[in-house]
Amino acid sequence: MSCVTSNAPRTPKPRPETSLVHCGRESDRQFGFVNTPPYRGSTVVHRTLAKLDAATRANPQTGEFIYGLLGTPNSRELEGLLAALDGGEGAVVVQTGLAAVHIALAAHLSHGDHVLMVDTAYGPTRRLCDAVLSRMGVRTTYYDPHIGSAIGELIEPNTKVVYMESPGSLTFEIQDVRAISAAARARGVLTVVDSTWAPALYCRPLELGADFVVRALTKYEGGSSDLLLGAVIARTRDSIRPVKGYADDLGSLAHPEDCVLCLRGMRSLSIRLQHHQVGALHIAKWLQSRPEVKSVFYPALESDASHALWKRDFTGATGLFAFELHNASRERIACMLDGMRYFRMGYSWGGYESLIIFAEEGSGRTASRWRASGPLLRVHIGLEHVEDLIADLADGLARIA
Ligand SMILES: Cc1ncc(COP(=O)(O)O)c(C=O)c1O
Repeated sequence: MSCVTSNAPRTPKPRPETSLVHCGRESDRQFGFVNTPPYRGSTVVHRTLAKLDAATRANPQTGEFIYGLLGTPNSRELEGLLAALDGGEGAVVVQTGLAAVHIALAAHLSHGDHVLMVDTAYGPTRRLCDAVLSRMGVRTTYYDPHIGSAIGELIEPNTKVVYMESPGSLTFEIQDVRAISAAARARGVLTVVDSTWAPALYCRPLELGADFVVRALTKYEGGSSDLLLGAVIARTRDSIRPVKGYADDLGSLAHPEDCVLCLRGMRSLSIRLQHHQVGALHIAKWLQSRPEVKSVFYPALESDASHALWKRDFTGATGLFAFELHNASRERIACMLDGMRYFRMGYSWGGYESLIIFAEEGSGRTASRWRASGPLLRVHIGLEHVEDLIADLADGLARIA
């Protein structure tokens, strides 16, 4: 769906904050109502055989609607906004972030193919490779997130995809997407980047050279922990077609109500991200000053090993980071976590609420070493007042002693 409305802005390309407000909705088509309501529906009826034939032959992302499984006004509006924000020419929205990971990979893979997967990938992405793609005859090699252009040395004649996740969502290593994408492209291999930690306002991997971006919209785009949704965004119009075709063959189109909720969340994304960022940086620095804390892993900190790459490729940092404690037993950590007032334990992030988890990192890796030795806690800094969160963490750390 086009992002250019009848009162189009004078500059040819609106800034992302403006796109967030104006793209992905056409009030003129909704009797003037600002937001498009959910188009719940399976069947789409046509008056004549010629019209049905034309709709069936049309591009499923731009032509007339023909069946709810293949696209609704809501999915198209969200896809249009996502593509505009990432600077891509097409997007597909699907039911979950993990479905987006699966589709971005499997749309390009056949029996006998090979994938290069970052060692710090989200756990279920790794399981997808080890438990699902392997059964389909696709082999995976894991690589060190810091590999850079040396990825070229791992590319085999049957390598079809290099998959990145930057930063990893547990230990926050930023990958050199430019170098990896250039090396892969030189050998005719596609690149996919899971950029869920940094929405397009803060990082646009297509501009760094990647072919596809995966986003779990479940996190910051949705913003309220009340939906599951994912997207694949493509650099070119041609390259989104096989992705859309594969998603349709699986029957995985996003539900219209979830698209509406996500669009609603995205209207306020830029101010929410700013708040997450300011709070997270403040708390990360405060944690660095605490005697119980050995290190803090947050790319926006100057001391972070990924800081230089973050500064080069990102325009902001979000609310998710981790910190390592000096030695503490599981029982003492339980004392801390069980008594938190505002931080609750939960496996997601990106909502308005603060979260904390005890992350047992390192054991799953096969191609790199996790450098920390103490217990790792991952926090998501929500939209609460930062001083209340600091007080909660200070009390918690005191319970470890
Ligand atoms: C980095 C990353 N990618 C993808 C996903 C999958 O998203 P979803 O939970 O919507 O399937 C997650 C979920 O935690 C994630 O952290």
